[in-house]
Amino acid sequence: MSWERQINLKTDSEIAVMREAGRINAEALHAAMTIVRPGVTTADLNVAAEEVLKKYGVTSPFKGYPGAYPYPASICTSVNEELVHGIPGKRKLIEGDIVSMDCGTNYKGFVGDSAVTVGVGTISEPAQWLLDVTREALRIGIEQMVPGNHVGDISAAIQDYVESHKMNVVREYTGHGVGRQMHEGPAVPNYGIPGRGMELRVGMTIALEPMVMLGAYFTKVLQDEWTVASRDDSLTAHFEHSVAITKAGPVILTEC
Ligand code: MF3
Ligand code: CO
Repeated sequence: MSWERQINLKTDSEIAVMREAGRINAEALHAAMTIVRPGVTTADLNVAAEEVLKKYGVTSPFKGYPGAYPYPASICTSVNEELVHGIPGKRKLIEGDIVSMDCGTNYKGFVGDSAVTVGVGTISEPAQWLLDVTREALRIGIEQMVPGNHVGDISAAIQDYVESHKMNVVREYTGHGVGRQMHEGPAVPNYGIPGRGMELRVGMTIALEPMVMLGAYFTKVLQDEWTVASRDDSLTAHFEHSVAITKAGPVILTEC
């Protein structure tokens, strides 16, 4: 027995369904992104994403997800030092904030999972660097998702890029396989050693999610028992795509 979650290889037709799930997910995230401005609450972002899910008659696998208590919303909204799993609520965004929005979609038995971080109005230069480095780290990680490479190649590419910009990758949370379940194997850390870890195979579908902080990589869970923040309250960012590994290379499933 292993503690590792099961790895389920997908057929081309299953990947096609996941592409549809991912497209809906991207549309929901896009709807939330487009209303971001000072004065909007994080609950408003959740409503904007939910309206799209409702339009397609689908739900988010986040809602009711087991934890200290069932996760209460369809998306996660994490502001500034909050890294992931922030719960949408009354908090109003203000000029200069950065907000991560993470959304999931259940569609025909499969899950799409992706996240973006955006600025609210004009943001500071370090905040903009953080967003640019984290977005690029995701792209660089995806580039490594070719059959025959190893999980460690993805992890190391992300870590090297981020650390070369004097930023840090989180240790306690990882990317993950995605499919019929939101969380499948393999776990894909954002740090690692080239050539190590499981070999990547055609049909693997992975949610890759670099989580980057301007300060130290330690985290804390806030009083609501869900929100994960940097322990030193430094700014953090999070980008995520669900990606299929195919003969032709990586295919991003969660794009419009
Ligand atoms: N994208 C996140 C993940 O992969 C969001 C899940 S958090 C939830 O773990 F609890 F809300 F589901
Ligand atoms: Co995820």
